[in-house]
Amino acid sequence: RRTQIVIIGGGPSGLLLSQLLHKRGIQSVVLERKSKDYVLSRIRAGVLERGLLGLMEEAGIGGRMAKEGFAHDGTLISYGDEMFRIDFKELTGHSVMVYGQTEVTRDLYDAREAMGGQIEYNVEEVEIHDLESDAATVTYRKDGQTHKISCDFVAGCDGYHGVSRKTIPSEIRKEYEKIYPFGWLGILSRTPPVSHELIYANSERGFALCSMRNENLSRYYIQCDLTDRPEDWSDAAFWAELKRRLPPEVAEKMVTGPSIEKSIAPLRSFVSEPMRWGRLFLCGDAAHIVPPTGAKGLNTAASDVHYLYNGLRQFYETGDAAGIDGYSELALARVWKAERFSWWFSSLMHRYPEQSAFDFKMQLAEIEFLRSNRAAQQAMAENYVGLPY
Ligand code: FAD
Ligand code: DHB
Repeated sequence: RRTQIVIIGGGPSGLLLSQLLHKRGIQSVVLERKSKDYVLSRIRAGVLERGLLGLMEEAGIGGRMAKEGFAHDGTLISYGDEMFRIDFKELTGHSVMVYGQTEVTRDLYDAREAMGGQIEYNVEEVEIHDLESDAATVTYRKDGQTHKISCDFVAGCDGYHGVSRKTIPSEIRKEYEKIYPFGWLGILSRTPPVSHELIYANSERGFALCSMRNENLSRYYIQCDLTDRPEDWSDAAFWAELKRRLPPEVAEKMVTGPSIEKSIAPLRSFVSEPMRWGRLFLCGDAAHIVPPTGAKGLNTAASDVHYLYNGLRQFYETGDAAGIDGYSELALARVWKAERFSWWFSSLMHRYPEQSAFDFKMQLAEIEFLRSNRAAQQAMAENYVGLPY
């Protein structure tokens, strides 16, 4: 079997890349380790930048999002009993879109299936070979048989735990990492959101975030210990702790209900360089992870897809390899800025185990500066709505 691009991983990066390439007549095969239902059951990101919206439109899958998504022109930041708003629209001219990663992925699967896209689910033992020769090959096992595909290029869209990054020899790969000493406990509940806009809360008891998926589906997170397990947290304990971390007028309005999902995510900053080796290109979580504060994970995956898609298009349409040769450098320049913003916003909003009373005062002073200074707000807003591609 032969194709132009083998895409490893059927998460949002892999599916979006496959769909965009298809629109330009470039063939691909997507190899996904899990089932489609499993991928769609993962509750992840909820806030999309305009760059990702543009890519979804270009991919022909923006229709449902335009109808069912919610444009947000600003966000709220609270500290102790105080709260203020950052007006993205007024500061930058742009908004963000609240539309879940699950929905983006569902729209992509529907479009790929309608167009006869080749997606192999439940594949095992994916291995990438011959990356430095004139045709790469990818092998995998499915239904007890070994399969082999030869291709021009491989796109490693297989997330942090995938095989693609590890295929790059360790002498060539340089990894940068920071592990945060806490996690996020998140729940989804069929309740109306407490606020029309997201609330990022710095409290003495730890960070909290009020987010949403729609008018009757709320997503809330609280900072937790890395040793906590979701089953240690009853719904009642979660709601009580969430309310303690919010200003009283917000806590009073909170509508609570049973959780329909509850999970803990660790926080990590991670970048692996380079993002290209021979015929392999890394995209999304395969190459980098951000802590979730600021919602940059999925959006940074999308900017990689943008650069890789345009590079491949240029190569197939004109024979010019400049775009793919420049991919790693171009993608990484934007990745590092998203890393910086996510690290800064995480550092500003969380309680750290070793944090002194002085350190806490520094956080509060910085938040008050953000509250009162337009230049500081502008810097925050430009990063939040997404730096230009
Ligand atoms: P993934 O979504 O990880 O997709 C990779 C795909 O590759 C998966 O479907 C996987 O099954 C498949 N795969 C892996 N290994 C192999 C293999 N060997 N062979 C074949 N297929 C393979 N971002 C935010 O902005 N906000 C959030 O609230 C948020 N919450 C998150 C919570 C969790 C628990 C996690 C893990 C991430 C969260 N993120 C969040 C980050 C965001 O979801 C990711 O940045 C985004 O999913 C990246 O997309 P991706 O396609 O690059 O990787
Ligand atoms: C969500 C997650 C985030 O990390 C964030 O900064 C905003 C929203 C969410 O899941 O809704």
